[in-house]
Amino acid sequence: MKANIALLPGDGIGPEVVQSAVRVLQAIAEKYTHEFSMQTHLIGGCAIDAQGHALPEATQQACLAADAVLLGAVGGPKWSDPKAAVRPEQGLLQLRALLDVFANVRPVKVFARAAQFSPLKPERLLGVDFVFVRELTGGSYFGTKSRTEHDASDECRYSVLEIERVAHKAFQLAQSRRRKVTSIDKANVLETSRLWRETVNQVAKHYPDVTLEHQLVDSMAMLLLTRPADYDVLVTENLFGDILSDEAAVLAGSLGLLPSASLGAGSRGLYEPIHGSAPDIAGQSLANPIGCILSAALMLRYSFGLECEAQCIEHAVAEVVAHAELTRDLFGQASTEQVTQSILSEISRMEASKAA
Ligand code: NAD
Ligand code: IPM
Ligand code: MN
Repeated sequence: MKANIALLPGDGIGPEVVQSAVRVLQAIAEKYTHEFSMQTHLIGGCAIDAQGHALPEATQQACLAADAVLLGAVGGPKWSDPKAAVRPEQGLLQLRALLDVFANVRPVKVFARAAQFSPLKPERLLGVDFVFVRELTGGSYFGTKSRTEHDASDECRYSVLEIERVAHKAFQLAQSRRRKVTSIDKANVLETSRLWRETVNQVAKHYPDVTLEHQLVDSMAMLLLTRPADYDVLVTENLFGDILSDEAAVLAGSLGLLPSASLGAGSRGLYEPIHGSAPDIAGQSLANPIGCILSAALMLRYSFGLECEAQCIEHAVAEVVAHAELTRDLFGQASTEQVTQSILSEISRMEASKAA
């Protein structure tokens, strides 16, 4: 197949991990004879420096014209002055809204070797395999903001329609998995959460084969660490999903391992690792490229329907995580480049064994 992929490396370690994912995509294109046309565009702090906007018009047009978008990360101390008129993160939020990617799918799978990486007890990590479906284009991220010298506000709004469409995604995903949805809210306090819970209950009626349970976000924060293997699909609003998914990275052993797919109504998606620009390690080849590489695998699966190719990347990553030298976040000494090389070797080795 032919596909047009917009690359948005962004800031900090963004360019390092996107470069790794691009090499993996090139290897897959060669192995399975696809044509991926990839062009790089500006977003975030580097776009502010070059053009004064976090999401320049040319980037917007390129993303709208692309079949999928692969993003590294945006932001960093250089652009973090609270008084700054424009912030890198605004570019990312604007892009999510522009592409109308309302469902952010964040799979959390614990590799067997994770027992060595995670601070949690190994027996708790056995069989952990769940997916967050985080609402991505609503809530307090997108409500009206106000600021005076003495007070500030971020409005949190949700419509039934916004809740319904993300809930449908969660139930559909559960149907292809273990058929359990856990909806997370703060319905004991927040009005938006009460609407969330009512609406999810209504949507659940369309999926009698899926079990639904509700959890309050504060106890969920605890349950994620005490009983992580109990969960299958976790659906929640924008801010709760942001926080809980970084927490879930502790189970996997590193934030650098987790990918994400931001999906809308059509096949075009925005793919990005869940981590940020990691300014503390940027430019030193210390970044773990696996979250970005697995995001590329999600792109192949969800935007292009290339399941076999997606699994090829995932198997290669699993092999490398199990046996190879890893980056410093996973207590190894390998560089970003070396981990990428190990994954590329696995991909070509799998080709050899397939041909044999
Ligand atoms: P961060 O995710 O960048 O880093 C948190 C910690 O995890 C750091 O110690 C970092 O070194 C480590 N880490 C993250 N990714 C890693 C990787 N791939 N390999 C190894 N270690 C990794 O979060 P932060 O420091 O709070 O934020 C830094 C900047 O990134 C902020 O400006 C923030 O707004 C931005 N950010 C952007 C995105 C995004 O673009 N999607 C996501 C989160 C944060
Ligand atoms: C993420 C990030 C973003 C978010 C920021 C950078 C706007 O933390 O993708 O998880 O909060 O959604
Ligand atoms: Mn986040």
